[in-house]
Amino acid sequence: MARYLLPALLSSCVVAQNVIGTATTNSALSKTTSLELSVDDLWDVLVGPVAVANITTIVEATPIPTSSLIPPPNLASYSFPNGRQIPEMVLNSSWSFPKDFWLGVAGAAYQIEGAVKDDGRGPSIWDKLTRVPGYTVANQTGDIADNNYYFYKQDIARIAAMGINTYSFSISWSRIYPFGAGPINQAGIDHYNDVINTCLAYNVTPTVTLFHWDLPLFLQEKYGGWLSEDIVDDFVAYANTSFQAFGDRVKTWFTLNEPIVFCDDYPLPDQYFKNFSIPYKQQPYYCGRNAVLAHAKAYRLGKSLLGNDTLISFKNNGGYKIPLTNSSADAQAVQRAYDYNEGWFADPIFLTGTWPDSLNDYLSTFLEPFTSDEQTLIKGTADLFAHDAYTSQFYYAPDVGIEACLNDTTNSLYPGCFNTSYTYSTADGGWLIGAAADANAPWLHKATDWVPALLHYINDTWAPPLGRILVSEFGFAEPFEVYKTIVADVLTDQIRSDYYKAYMEGILIALSEGLNIMGSLAWSFVDNLEWADGYTVKFGMQRVDFDSPSLDRSYKASFFQYVDVFKQYIQQ
Ligand SMILES: *[C@@H]1O[C@H](CO)[C@@H](O)[C@H](O)[C@H]1NC(C)=O
Ligand SMILES: *[C@@H]1O[C@H](CO)[C@@H](O)[C@H](O)[C@H]1NC(C)=O
Ligand SMILES: *[C@@H]1O[C@H](CO)[C@@H](O)[C@H](O)[C@H]1NC(C)=O
Ligand SMILES: *[C@@H]1O[C@H](CO)[C@@H](O)[C@H](O)[C@H]1NC(C)=O
Ligand SMILES: *[C@@H]1O[C@H](CO)[C@@H](O)[C@H](O)[C@H]1NC(C)=O
Ligand SMILES: *[C@@H]1O[C@H](CO)[C@@H](O)[C@H](O)[C@H]1NC(C)=O
Ligand SMILES: *[C@@H]1O[C@H](CO)[C@@H](O)[C@H](O)[C@H]1NC(C)=O
Ligand SMILES: *[C@@H]1O[C@H](CO)[C@@H](O)[C@H](O)[C@H]1NC(C)=O
Ligand SMILES: *[C@@H]1O[C@H](CO)[C@@H](O)[C@H](O)[C@H]1NC(C)=O
Ligand SMILES: *[C@@H]1O[C@H](CO)[C@@H](O)[C@H](O)[C@H]1NC(C)=O
Repeated sequence: MARYLLPALLSSCVVAQNVIGTATTNSALSKTTSLELSVDDLWDVLVGPVAVANITTIVEATPIPTSSLIPPPNLASYSFPNGRQIPEMVLNSSWSFPKDFWLGVAGAAYQIEGAVKDDGRGPSIWDKLTRVPGYTVANQTGDIADNNYYFYKQDIARIAAMGINTYSFSISWSRIYPFGAGPINQAGIDHYNDVINTCLAYNVTPTVTLFHWDLPLFLQEKYGGWLSEDIVDDFVAYANTSFQAFGDRVKTWFTLNEPIVFCDDYPLPDQYFKNFSIPYKQQPYYCGRNAVLAHAKAYRLGKSLLGNDTLISFKNNGGYKIPLTNSSADAQAVQRAYDYNEGWFADPIFLTGTWPDSLNDYLSTFLEPFTSDEQTLIKGTADLFAHDAYTSQFYYAPDVGIEACLNDTTNSLYPGCFNTSYTYSTADGGWLIGAAADANAPWLHKATDWVPALLHYINDTWAPPLGRILVSEFGFAEPFEVYKTIVADVLTDQIRSDYYKAYMEGILIALSEGLNIMGSLAWSFVDNLEWADGYTVKFGMQRVDFDSPSLDRSYKASFFQYVDVFKQYIQQ
């Protein structure tokens, strides 16, 4: 068991004790000297008890029954029972996927693994966030999740049986470093070694994300996590250990998943986390600055250790941004939206070493600009543009106009000063951009008409090396799925199926127009803990029966649909 000496935790004890209501004060604690803490102490002091799954040993894969691999009857590649009226399905001869296209699926550690305290894992901020009453809609945690920590062999066997060739997963930082820094937990390294080796045994290529939001809780309590520049060296040390442990077999790495989103999670609820004296509204941007530096340093180190054949990038996210009207103000709103979202990370990393002008106008009022050495460090630290692109949206200027909004820090849209909508303008009929996803995922619509436009925008704006673009996440939350009680109803997920078909056709259009789309990683291969939505929102292409002891998985129709488009258009 790892032990770590750190006086800094004392201030966290204050937070924990405030929560449970004891009257210990800061000054009383400051008289205490340092404390030697075990990982169990961290759990006891900062998190409390956790739920444990019924199965807590590694389960060997069993063969996938052939009856569960029969596609639904409405797919193009399936020979139908006679007598039904089926329109002829014609292949488009302009379309094909290149031979080396990644037909992938994605997942992330905290959302699927469970086993949160097992084998020496330290707590992450999400172990605590899920215990903040109401932070997740139904107070659900990732304590057990899909129990993938013990079922990964079966999970990999199941995706391989469907013909998937790439599996994108994330490493739990606090399994490798229970305190975020300091002692290494060998059991964590052993686990991911076996996940990677299992992938290779099934001819599935593993790609690894180092940070998918599950920040070691200790680092948040110690110095504010991503709010502090101290995170940079701790992240690089963790990346270093991972590159050295797994880099012989993992040839594609993502440093950070969706920094826009995890930085926008700041401020964390300050009754439950130690408070740091950075104004709330500025906290996301402190995080963003440190995230860019952490990424860039990890990239440089990774390339020096693993060589040019290993691809390293980060996963950005966002949809195509459509101006609501043809006005110049709406065109400006679109540009501001790209600057404040994708450009926040993509401009420094792909283009300039620093932020886009409109963002810099705001950030320079409180953040140090990147020095010229930092700009040199940052610029050019991505080998591909990995983009999580689920949906698209309309953008337009604030009611008072962009200039007046920029003059008024109390405007609800300040500092971005762009407004958004999922409906066309009234002049254009006011229709929704595309079918809405589940009510608990109001940000998501089936806006697949805009996939080619987005991919062109990425290529033309950020010019990734060799034009490489990867759709590193996309997927859909079937409406009301959580309310369905008949299993067959859940498995026949028609809107999600339509989404995958149309999305893959969007990629085929982009490929036919000369873009270098490397692959697609569907989110997700199983139902899982959807962060603040808990298990109420389903993104899985497999259903998980959360009431069965082994959390049984079943393929939904959408999984077959996703694979079917690929099978029809893959070059022979
Ligand atoms: C979550 O927990 C809080 C506090 O215990 C409670 O008020 C709330 O009703 C719970 N939410 C649900 C959906 O159970
Ligand atoms: C990476 O780890 C090695 C030890 O395995 C160490 O010698 C080296 O200094 C580390 N590099 C960085 C940048 O942390
Ligand atoms: C936390 O810090 C912020 C920024 O200094 C401050 O506005 C807020 O009141 C603090 N919250 C608490 C509970 O002390
Ligand atoms: C490394 O790969 C990039 C493309 O990712 C290429 O542009 C560059 O020339 C390569 N460098 C070396 C030294 O081979
Ligand atoms: C925007 O311009 C295009 C062509 O330039 C035109 O077809 C379209 O109707 C215009 N839309 C609006 C809302 O004015
Ligand atoms: C954003 O647009 C909505 C819908 O048109 C409008 O009601 C709202 O006032 C706008 N917000 C601002 C701050 O302009
Ligand atoms: C914004 O503020 C500047 C300087 O105070 C002023 O000159 C300008 O007229 C203002 N613009 C708007 C649209 O309010
Ligand atoms: C076939 O693909 C081309 C190129 O993407 C596209 O322009 C055309 O509309 C497609 N035809 C059909 C019938 O989908
Ligand atoms: C992608 O971008 C590159 C360079 O920015 C450009 O040369 C190329 O034509 C673009 N590809 C397509 C298909 O537009
Ligand atoms: C786990 O085991 C307990 C005790 O046997 C049982 O009550 C519970 O239903 C089981 N949980 C699941 C998900 O099967």
